[in-house]
Amino acid sequence: MHYDFDTQVPRLGTGSIKWDEAADPNIIPLWVADMDFPAFPPIIEALQRRVAHGVFGYTHATDAYYDSVINWFERRHGLRFAREEFICVPGVVPAISAIVRALTLTGDKVLVCSPVYNAFYSSIRNQGCMVEESPLRYANNTYTVDWEDFERRCADPRVRLFVLCNPHNPAGRVWTPDELQRMGDICLRHHVFVVADEIHCEIVMPGHHYTPFATVDERFRAHCAVCVAPTKAFNIAGLQVANILVNDPQKRERIDRAVNIHEVCDLGPFGLAATPAAYTDEGAEWLRQLNEYLAANYRCLLDYFAAELPAFPVTVLEGTYLVWVNCAATGLPSDEIVERLTRRHHVQLCPGSIYGDPTDRFVRINIACPRATLREGLDRMAAGLREMMQS
Ligand SMILES: Cc1ncc(COP(=O)(O)O)c(C=O)c1O
Repeated sequence: MHYDFDTQVPRLGTGSIKWDEAADPNIIPLWVADMDFPAFPPIIEALQRRVAHGVFGYTHATDAYYDSVINWFERRHGLRFAREEFICVPGVVPAISAIVRALTLTGDKVLVCSPVYNAFYSSIRNQGCMVEESPLRYANNTYTVDWEDFERRCADPRVRLFVLCNPHNPAGRVWTPDELQRMGDICLRHHVFVVADEIHCEIVMPGHHYTPFATVDERFRAHCAVCVAPTKAFNIAGLQVANILVNDPQKRERIDRAVNIHEVCDLGPFGLAATPAAYTDEGAEWLRQLNEYLAANYRCLLDYFAAELPAFPVTVLEGTYLVWVNCAATGLPSDEIVERLTRRHHVQLCPGSIYGDPTDRFVRINIACPRATLREGLDRMAAGLREMMQS
């Protein structure tokens, strides 16, 4: 079956954060990390069946739910977890907050590789911890770990956790087995527990391959909490469903307790119905076609920047649908670039400032939309960025 990613589904007026926040129907929003495509059709059918049932009381994870997640990760990614290792939560952000709460004391430090997903900063700080940043090295339009810096920070006894983002938002990296091995070895050596946020694991560009951190080395399994969800891949973030997989029973108990203290232990009926409908062979085929479409969108963006905006280097995209573009040529801070693009040119992006980017000259572009929308967004960016270069 061929799936259609070209049709533009109007989202204005649906309470969409991405589309409705600006309250301006003329804006093309390429910011919040959800997709403008309808979900995989069997998910929609499963939800329709659930709605038709008509009773929406409290729910907990079902056999069908657990089995679908277990089988999917085992068959597709070689990641094996048993049912008792699960903690189900309504999102990966609540998961990270609860893990930080469970495994740190106030004043401890949590390591991240910046620039990185903005909610890591708030989740860490909201639990009374400090963010320890190991800045990634930027060269040749890509990012790598600064190993010396990474190890030096891990060696600080106040650093308790490392929040790994694999694939990495917004740097676009899909970490290789060698890189993951090295990160894990360093963390083990210094007793730093790893929180592996692998929510973007299904969105991978051709030629790259996602490796779950926990599969790289047998020792890593007991030394990490894995956070996964069907939400990014199948565009169902609003259904609020995610899993923490924890092998170490003591750590699991502490995290489970924190999840309860935070009152984020219940899943809704829709996330529960959608997940087994997504994690199927046909779901894998839908994902294959989605990844193909996103790769073509990325190629379209690359060609556009090469032809029209050569002064703006595009970071290599290995995974995620979030493209990180260097706008240093404007000489402006990222907030101002985004503000001007939104206000004057009606295209909304994310400023690099929120991801702890030390240069503050990048913007993030969400390319998970029909190609026609992306093309229009690119024309608007070109007009705005050229204007900023001249002023
Ligand atoms: C790396 C990363 N983790 C977590 C999330 C959000 O997860 P959730 O909606 O499950 O809280 C995002 C969303 O953009 C993300 O990029």
